[in-house]
Amino acid sequence: MKVTVVGAGNVGATCANVIAHKELANEVILLDIKEGIAEGKSLDIWQTAPINLYDTRVKGSTNDYAATAGSDVVVITSGLPRKPGMSRDDLIATNAGIVKSVTENIVKYSPNTIIIVVSNPLDVMTYCSYMTSGLKSSKVFGMAGILDTARYRAFLAEALNCSPKDIQAVLMGGHGDTMVPLPRYTTVAGIPVTELIASDKLDAIIQRAKVGGGELVNLMGTSAWYAPGAAVAQMVEAIVRDQKRIFPVCAWLNGEYGMKDIYLGVPVKLGKNGIEQIIELKLNDAEMDLLKKSGAAVKEVMDVLDKMQETVK
Ligand code: LAC
Repeated sequence: MKVTVVGAGNVGATCANVIAHKELANEVILLDIKEGIAEGKSLDIWQTAPINLYDTRVKGSTNDYAATAGSDVVVITSGLPRKPGMSRDDLIATNAGIVKSVTENIVKYSPNTIIIVVSNPLDVMTYCSYMTSGLKSSKVFGMAGILDTARYRAFLAEALNCSPKDIQAVLMGGHGDTMVPLPRYTTVAGIPVTELIASDKLDAIIQRAKVGGGELVNLMGTSAWYAPGAAVAQMVEAIVRDQKRIFPVCAWLNGEYGMKDIYLGVPVKLGKNGIEQIIELKLNDAEMDLLKKSGAAVKEVMDVLDKMQETVK
């Protein structure tokens, strides 16, 4: 297996590091536009192999896409991260240009690859990569839900003083403040979470999870990387090991949940073919209403991108 990670910033490098530690591929190519940065970080990661005992070969490249040829999975992390006061949507113009050119280069050398997009604004950058790639929608999707549920689950573990391992949750919608955590589908070792925590406490946790990315941007002056990097590596693992795991993933909807021609976070089954199934939960009216609102917010930004592309043409 060969995995390429485009963008050797904090998220890309963390992702490559986790993939190597877990030996998810024989070879990982880390590529960046900045001279020497991908080579340097790859060399540093590779030098942990004798310490941490793995043999995944991590190699860096300064913008030479020939090095990525024949990749099974490509992770796109390129683009500017958020600064305090910015929403993910503020990044659209700059990052769309970057994601488009990265995708063109990637499919030139790996025409059958699976692409996982991490760049923000996530749902719309995934759409941008899909439109550019010419690949089937089952092979182009975005990482957001694993990260957003991880934040939600971590906050719950803290509040309940229990192991995060026991907390299962589904979260849907866009990767923004309209995301839809679903308490009805949240359990602690099989016990509905609503039996273990007061509803006002749960509401506060849901609210914190929704703006969880922003909390970190405010603390650090830039966006997060440990959890985003680990989350995307978990998706790579499900694909390269054909695990058929069920995760919330930003996927192209074609009528599911009554929505069409939109990328939005929904539960899917991930395996060697990418998205192998979109799972349709029986949402109640209130949940469906929140999902539709989140879909409308994403669609608005997708339309901005469409209009930008028209002016470029
Ligand atoms: C976050 C960024 C990666 O949520 O979108 O931290």
